[in-house]
Amino acid sequence: MSQRPRRPARPPWRDFWRVRRGLGSNLVEGLTFIHREYGDFVRTRLPLQLYFVADPACIEEILVKKAEVFRKDRTSRLLSRVVGNGLLVNEGDSWRRQRRLLQPAFHHRQLQSYAAVMVGAIERAAAAWQPGQVRNVHEDMMAVTLNIVAEALFGSDVSADAGHMGRIISDLMEEFGRILGLAARFQPPAWVPTTANRRLRASARKVDRVILGIIEARRQSQSDAGQDDLLSLLIRARDEDGSTMTAAQVRDEAVTLFLAGHETTALALTYSLYLLATHPECQARLADELHRVLGGRTPGLADLESLKYTDAVVLEAMRLYPPAWVMARQALTEVEIGPYRFPKGAEFVISPWVLHRDPKNFDDPEAFKPERWDGDLAHRLPRFAYFPFGGGPRVCIGNRFAMMEAKLVLAVAIQRFRFEATPETVLALLPSVTLRPRQGVRLRLTARDPDPAATDRPHP
Ligand code: HEM
Repeated sequence: MSQRPRRPARPPWRDFWRVRRGLGSNLVEGLTFIHREYGDFVRTRLPLQLYFVADPACIEEILVKKAEVFRKDRTSRLLSRVVGNGLLVNEGDSWRRQRRLLQPAFHHRQLQSYAAVMVGAIERAAAAWQPGQVRNVHEDMMAVTLNIVAEALFGSDVSADAGHMGRIISDLMEEFGRILGLAARFQPPAWVPTTANRRLRASARKVDRVILGIIEARRQSQSDAGQDDLLSLLIRARDEDGSTMTAAQVRDEAVTLFLAGHETTALALTYSLYLLATHPECQARLADELHRVLGGRTPGLADLESLKYTDAVVLEAMRLYPPAWVMARQALTEVEIGPYRFPKGAEFVISPWVLHRDPKNFDDPEAFKPERWDGDLAHRLPRFAYFPFGGGPRVCIGNRFAMMEAKLVLAVAIQRFRFEATPETVLALLPSVTLRPRQGVRLRLTARDPDPAATDRPHP
């Protein structure tokens, strides 16, 4: 390895407490501040090998080109207290084997069979919504995406558990919100009875009870033969040597897919609805596209190709509010990234939130403008200027599932209702493993006239 004398910039000593406060309290603002003030590659003044990376080419080196010399960081490892050794946190040969076994569940042919499940779930939910109601759309979207993942994954109806599960996940995310960032490195091992450990264990047990209950009910009610939901695929999946997953692995993967598969998509939908409500002209254009392409009928997979603006709304919402807003990696060996050299153990923090709002790549970056995706922006951008699903070998396995789900659910919701901001509509962010609205998002629903041009004038 060549000698590379250059080290990333460090904030001056006089800023030590500003940086430290940013990292200890509101992490979203902390990372934005560090990037704005000190640049694309920053080292802290703390006695840690901790670096903040916001250079797309360097991120590509970490996530793709040199992915084999990195593992996930400590915070991700804390997640294993809930998801066991599921795909999100697994490493090495065991991760490679599990990824190979799970991949077929996300192949195109398989995804086709989920479209009806997705549309059915939002249609059932929307049937219970009343015009004039002010609703917490975050709660609604969590319930819809939970039902989708449960039906696709377990072939089961969990409407009765949706509220309960939503509360468990909110508690869990609040707990992770408290111990994220620098606090994560000072977490004692799981067996030490700290308040955080006790709360995490209690939430993990509750998640287990719901999920194992569903798996058990499903096993008792029918055999797996002939079923083609994800759970059956997990149970039947065979590696090249003919081996199948153990019961513990099936549980870990099921919990992982259950959590990773609905919380993030619910957030993408919540932020899409919030942004459409606060930008009525964009909502009008979306309603117009849906009317033109679908003429009032239910959307299906084949329509997605024509729903270009719907796609742009979801992309733009995930640009401004990436549900997976931060990821991190730890070097397993000495490694060179860009012009720098780092020791084994160095940790790299990468935030789509920061990259997605970088004026170097996006004009007017703070503005919600779905039309920016109309042209060839996606092709012009550096590979890691926009990456809501991560990238490289550990790219989100559910990315196509999620995009299909977000567009179908959004299309049906906007076909049925107009969403409006009210004085109660505030968005306070809770940066946890995902980026959540701290108190939900409350929007008023009004019935939509079949002719969108007639109703989509913004209310005075
Ligand atoms: C809008 C929705 C979603 C977003 C923004 C999202 C984002 C991400 C990101 C950024 C990663 C990579 C994390 C890293 O590199 O550290 C990831 C991994 C993962 N996601 Fe998603 N995800 C979404 C939906 C889904 C869905 C629907 C599923 C499953 C049904 C899913 C399952 C997973 C799994 C299992 C991994 C770990 C993959 C691996 O390490 O091999 N995600 N997701």
